[in-house]
Amino acid sequence: MNINNDRLNFFLRKMKHIPAEDRQAVAQRAIENQDRIYALLRSTGEKGIEELIADIHASNFSATHPHRHHHYATGLMEHLIGTYEAMAEYAAIFEEKGIHTDPKEVILVGLLHDLCDAKLDKWDSIEHGRHAIRSAAIVQKYLPDVSEEVLGAIRGHMGIASKAFFEDFSNQARLHPLRALVLLSDSQDAARFPESNHFEQPIGIRGLALAALRAAQLATL
Ligand SMILES: [Fe+2]
Ligand SMILES: [Fe+2]
Repeated sequence: MNINNDRLNFFLRKMKHIPAEDRQAVAQRAIENQDRIYALLRSTGEKGIEELIADIHASNFSATHPHRHHHYATGLMEHLIGTYEAMAEYAAIFEEKGIHTDPKEVILVGLLHDLCDAKLDKWDSIEHGRHAIRSAAIVQKYLPDVSEEVLGAIRGHMGIASKAFFEDFSNQARLHPLRALVLLSDSQDAARFPESNHFEQPIGIRGLALAALRAAQLATL
């Protein structure tokens, strides 16, 4: 049995609750997502990234799902890739307006913003409280040289308590571009799932739509 069959079987075993006719495609996509996540993380060359990848690989990360959206095995990886891709698209809009972000930092924030969901044994007990705070703390443990902007974006990636940020989006996007990118992209990706209650007042879908419009206008203002 070759390695890819082993990986396929690993994912297929996790998918009892997914309709049988869909399992093969979801498992195949999981393998592709896993390869892509590791390759993107490795491409950053960040100090500590190899240990993080190894621990992610040894954990249940690849089969994990977020709690309130993408609610199926392997859903976390799909959400992380979806968030990263949206961030990269918005980053191109920001760049046209002179708001620069480092592509490596876009990768780190996009793919690691929900890291605590992976329940990595080594650091899972640190920093109690909200998952955004805990994820940032775990990222900092693995990647000691990561910038404060990356950590701040991960800490602040939920829409909760971000009303002022969204209302002042153009200015905030200049001050904290990574946070602006992840706020938009994380919510947008979670919103693909109708059962998601990712949006908590006072941001909501409407707030997200307005912020996305403002982001798009950055390119034309
Ligand atoms: Fe999150
Ligand atoms: Fe997320």
